[in-house]
Amino acid sequence: MARPSRDVSRVLDELRREIATHDHRYHVLDDPSISDAEYDTLFRRLQALEAEHPELVTADSPTQRVGAAPSATFATVRHRHQMLSLGNVTTRDELAEFDARVRKLLGYENIPYAIEPKVDGVAVELVYEDGVFTTGSTRGDGLVGEDVTVNLRTVRSVPLRLRDDARPLPKVLDVRGEVFMPLEAFRALNRDREEAGLPVFANPRNSTAGSLKQLDPKVTASRPLQLACHGVGALEGVAVASHTELLAAFADWGLKPVPRHQLVHGLDELAAAFADLEAARDALPFEIDGLVVKVNSFEWQGLLGQVSRSPRWAVAWKFKPRQAETVVDKILPSVGRTGVLTPVAELAPVAVGGVTVRNVSLHNMDEVERKDIRVGDTVLLERAGDVIPYVVRVIEEKRPAKTTRFHMPTHCPVCGADVLRQDDEVAYRCQNIACPARIKQSLRFFGHRGAMDVEGLGEKLVDQLVDQGIVKDLADLYHLDLERLVALERMGKKSAENLLAQLERSKQTTLPRFLVALGIRQVGEATAKALALHFGTLDAIMAADVEALTAVRDVGPEVAAMIHAFFAEPRHIALVERLRAAGVTPAPVTETRGPLAGKKFVLTGSLGGMSRPEAQRRIEGLGGRVTASVSKDTDFVVVGADPGSKVKRAEKLGVAQLDEDAFVKLVRG
Ligand code: IVH
Repeated sequence: MARPSRDVSRVLDELRREIATHDHRYHVLDDPSISDAEYDTLFRRLQALEAEHPELVTADSPTQRVGAAPSATFATVRHRHQMLSLGNVTTRDELAEFDARVRKLLGYENIPYAIEPKVDGVAVELVYEDGVFTTGSTRGDGLVGEDVTVNLRTVRSVPLRLRDDARPLPKVLDVRGEVFMPLEAFRALNRDREEAGLPVFANPRNSTAGSLKQLDPKVTASRPLQLACHGVGALEGVAVASHTELLAAFADWGLKPVPRHQLVHGLDELAAAFADLEAARDALPFEIDGLVVKVNSFEWQGLLGQVSRSPRWAVAWKFKPRQAETVVDKILPSVGRTGVLTPVAELAPVAVGGVTVRNVSLHNMDEVERKDIRVGDTVLLERAGDVIPYVVRVIEEKRPAKTTRFHMPTHCPVCGADVLRQDDEVAYRCQNIACPARIKQSLRFFGHRGAMDVEGLGEKLVDQLVDQGIVKDLADLYHLDLERLVALERMGKKSAENLLAQLERSKQTTLPRFLVALGIRQVGEATAKALALHFGTLDAIMAADVEALTAVRDVGPEVAAMIHAFFAEPRHIALVERLRAAGVTPAPVTETRGPLAGKKFVLTGSLGGMSRPEAQRRIEGLGGRVTASVSKDTDFVVVGADPGSKVKRAEKLGVAQLDEDAFVKLVRG
């Protein structure tokens, strides 16, 4: 018997609120309070109940984020108030002129300035009416933008309904903010696009713009976009007196304010904050290109007004771009794990933002042709964040009389097999699935730390194993013996024994590690873990269809299709069977419990002996969690060299601090 629908409505309403609260904790506060598995259970319960009662589905239900069908074009939206852009300064002296002008116009000496990073993303406006998200648009020309509502609905840090528990809701709120893609997600996306033979994005901003301007919202949903709110157009029904108060109100309403915002006074404090931010730039998980300085008081902002399209009350103090010029010595094709030939430019070594760059991927032939990059050319390089450098353009004035164009070889430089380009692909591929270059890349990948973690399976060893025909696929690794190994160059008995012990140990692995090790495109550690938690066993994952795969948290249709295609290949099934027959046993995982279970860590500064992802992995491996900002709930702040303002905050809140030595001891156990 169906329950009376009033009861069902109430249950649905409660479930939706609960899920919205968990979305808020996870995507806005970066502080989840339940496990992914528990969340999935709630979500599936809501889906099932809505399927039984389709008449009770509401537009703001968490299940309706990706509701709309693909459209043919974007409609236009007129912004209620013009979206302004910022004037730029690049030196302290120029900022001093801005400050002097502000002081003169206002007739006050001590101006409180709200400062925050300039997030390098795409400017958007989101309209909330009575707390409900109704329209989202791009900036466009400042007056009229494009309607990207359905795409913005898929961004999980965009609340479909504002929270009203901490502060009354505005009647109308036009939020301004920046949509951006975190660097790690950007890198993963480009890696996959390169392998899939699709054109890569030049930088995180372009990939954000590309993701936001998708006609099919399902594609946007599969791209990990985030929103940082930094301003307001219309605001009706509540009084807000300053920028800092606005950011606090955003947080109360469930919107994510731009991170690292602060209130400062005077030029010295501004300059110190700029230096701090520039020092922190490389360690931030997203790209920023400067410091935004805003007069904090809204009344004063109003008095200062605007000139043409820029406010007189705010300015962007931009960082120097991390660019350098250098000469292309050679262009060579490099063969990847999936057989794709990537043109790589060998460069005259040059420092870009403190890193020496010797070669740079040119991604694919289309890119080489579009930018017309030739051997002998001088090129402009740029490094965005700690993103791999890329060629911005050729410096045409410096082109020598004689240059050489690059052509893709017709035969693989490694195995000599045919190289072909499929009709719908940008990529050229070596057609030999047993190409030694492909096998070598797969083996290195298989052994790396996030995968099977086989210490000692280094590049030189892999080269020898493949070149001598000892290893032809991943499973062959488990049939190596001592005699074979010691016969190899630079391989003593001790190292050979160690390697065999490592291989033996690696057989007892976890399902997520095993999935990563198989090298399925787009399946990194996070996705592998989500798959393992969702399906439980390898067989269940192998048997899942695209629809079942799409039901996994954060797995979009593109990723689901890749996973499905991988396990549809008989040779991949055969490989899995051979690995299992050799004794590889991927164990199911549950939510991690460990000595650090429930402990929250914040990382700041750089650790000499460990990269940030590695530190995070260690913490998570022991059951702990890493969050972005220090709060009273933080258990430890790990302080590396050149730490940011998080240390001050930790001191203020009395949170325990660990230096690198103490941290290493803790995670080593
Ligand atoms: S304030 C009138 N704050 O930079 C003030 N803008 O031209 C206008 N941006 O398109 C923007 N981070 O989208 C502001 N913390 C921040 C920002 C920010 C990035 C973008 C903004 C605008 C451009 C400035």
